[in-house]
Amino acid sequence: MMPTYYEFYNPVKINAGTEALETIPYEMGMMGVSRPLVVTDPGIVRAGLLEHVLRGFRDSNLTIGAIYDQTPPDSSLEVVNEIARIYKETRCDCLVAVGGGSVIDTTKGVNIVVSEGTDDIASLTGADRLSKPQRPLIVVPTTSGTGSEVTQVAVISDTRNNVKLPFTSNLLMPRLAVLDPRMTMSLPPKITAATGMDAMTHAVEAYTCLQKNPLSDAYAVAAIGLLRDNLIETVKQGNDAKRRFALANASLMAGTAFSNSMVGAVHGIAHALGAVAHIPHGLANSILLPYVMRFNLDNPRMAELYGELLLPLAGDEAFARAAKRERPRKAIETIVLMNHALNKACGMPNKLGEAGVRREQFAQIVEKAMEDGAMISNPKMVNASDVLEILELAF
Ligand SMILES: [Fe+2]
Repeated sequence: MMPTYYEFYNPVKINAGTEALETIPYEMGMMGVSRPLVVTDPGIVRAGLLEHVLRGFRDSNLTIGAIYDQTPPDSSLEVVNEIARIYKETRCDCLVAVGGGSVIDTTKGVNIVVSEGTDDIASLTGADRLSKPQRPLIVVPTTSGTGSEVTQVAVISDTRNNVKLPFTSNLLMPRLAVLDPRMTMSLPPKITAATGMDAMTHAVEAYTCLQKNPLSDAYAVAAIGLLRDNLIETVKQGNDAKRRFALANASLMAGTAFSNSMVGAVHGIAHALGAVAHIPHGLANSILLPYVMRFNLDNPRMAELYGELLLPLAGDEAFARAAKRERPRKAIETIVLMNHALNKACGMPNKLGEAGVRREQFAQIVEKAMEDGAMISNPKMVNASDVLEILELAF
């Protein structure tokens, strides 16, 4: 069913593949900037990944203005303000994010502060609140899940109020995304699994959200196919550059899909689980995805769309074997089996209790989830008792 009107936006240049990192200085020259602030985290430095990026700069005539390598796993307003101060003091003119979701979103937050000239970034939370062109931002993802390198979204924690603040604006789009297989080769199995299922959730929710359109559908379906063929094998055997590159592409495509459609209740509840119980984002999504799909299933339109997703999820033979009315349930079952396989391969928890959530946190999780913007775009209305039931079932 074609929408009568839709918008699709992805202005991010993508340099991907062998030695993609080496193109960064040239690209910066083309952007007319020469003094980057590099934002990363201690794990990236320890794993020797930052070195791959810096090596490319040494042969150029660009000067790195500063390196901030202390980004925590959960980006926060305090860290954003601290890095923005360094950016101004060292007179940088652009930003390079090297890391996973927290590093990328933190860097987008820094960009908001320095570009908008504000010292109260929290006042700009929400949709389309930014007014100034942002500084050029180059993103080098080191996980394959968030898709933040191609999205207009940043989520930053307000640790004082235990809430995750979303920022969405076309202005937040990076200028360049660099996918280089070297950057994800050493990602540990559990993080590979959880971030991969984050990408899976982006694709499934993008394909079923109210703003879905033919272009976001194409990206979502392609991403699911790549995840089906590569995620479990990569978790079992991580040092395969071709599979790592396939997962990076899946993540980027799923990101493009949801940035132009939306995410729904899986993300709404996962954000609350992150804020209240500090469950990693991808892990929360992987556990919740089949339960939210079952909740959505009694909506006939959702059943139809989940049925279509059996094709990329399970492949053409399994799709052809399943009767049309069985396909939606088989699609959900395929995701459950994928989660079980990931559990077997690396111990990724399949239940909230195993992941460290406590029942007494449920009331607060429900309350936060109901305030989350992603709940509105869920294809089926969700109320507080629905969220509680989903949590109970996933516990
Ligand atoms: Fe996500």
